[in-house]
Amino acid sequence: MNVIRTLKELHQFVIEKKQAGKEIGFVPTMGFLHEGHISLIHLSKKYADVTIASIYINPSQFNDLNDFNKYPKNEEGDLRLLRVNFCDAAFIPERAQIDSLQKVSIDLGGLDMIMEGICRPGHFQGVVEVVYRLFSVVMPDKAFFGEKDFQQLQIIKKMVETLKLPVEIIGAPILREFNGLAMSSRNSRLSKKARDNAGFIYEVLKSFVNTERQILEKRLFESGFTLEYLEKHDFGGQRRLFIAGVYDGVRLIDNIELN
Ligand code: PAJ
Repeated sequence: MNVIRTLKELHQFVIEKKQAGKEIGFVPTMGFLHEGHISLIHLSKKYADVTIASIYINPSQFNDLNDFNKYPKNEEGDLRLLRVNFCDAAFIPERAQIDSLQKVSIDLGGLDMIMEGICRPGHFQGVVEVVYRLFSVVMPDKAFFGEKDFQQLQIIKKMVETLKLPVEIIGAPILREFNGLAMSSRNSRLSKKARDNAGFIYEVLKSFVNTERQILEKRLFESGFTLEYLEKHDFGGQRRLFIAGVYDGVRLIDNIELN
């Protein structure tokens, strides 16, 4: 696997693959990789010829400096996981290189005025900014995003549509831990006990349709979960239920499809 740290090296790698007629699949991440991220690598390997993963903790999408500072890191472990899963290249840029790239700001058509957009002001403009910048140098044919961050996936699709970028956005299902907790880099900040108990979040999502809201809120409260939102939203005819809140000092999000 190629470990690429500069824009120049990345450009050389990408141009070489493109000249050889290869389709590039791209998996942007913030590192501390887990099976959820790796499922995106597998998808990219299935649908593209060459897979590039990026690892970059993007400061502009953190509205909470403390959250940014505490974001877990493990470059060595990440590289090992990418290697054993046959990722072709890992792009690990320095902040100054990303900052040197042109940025955009677009109208997200209200998509950023709900849920994460409200709870994390500026978050999605930060995501759009960095993903646009990464796309501009990786020049992927296909890019893969998890439904774990369903609102983010919609926003990336909106960005691609608005700017008419030549990249296909492919969404991937949520991978969960044995107890149903959605995999997340942030789960590593939960205590062992909290992580083992955290299956109640998925249970609440699954029982939403048949249970009174008050009962679910009580269940969350009694489990020590500080609810930020539990809401249904329609995205292009697809109804989903979304939850966010703080558990054991860690902010967690999850969602499921409602049939
Ligand atoms: P990060 O949280 O590292 O996630 C990278 C990708 O992995 C995202 O597309 C996310 O939805 C996906 N992912 C995370 N957990 C998953 C799970 N349990 N199952 C399936 N997919 C999962 O999302 C970001 O980074 C950043 O916002 C980024 C897009 C890289 C821009 O900085």
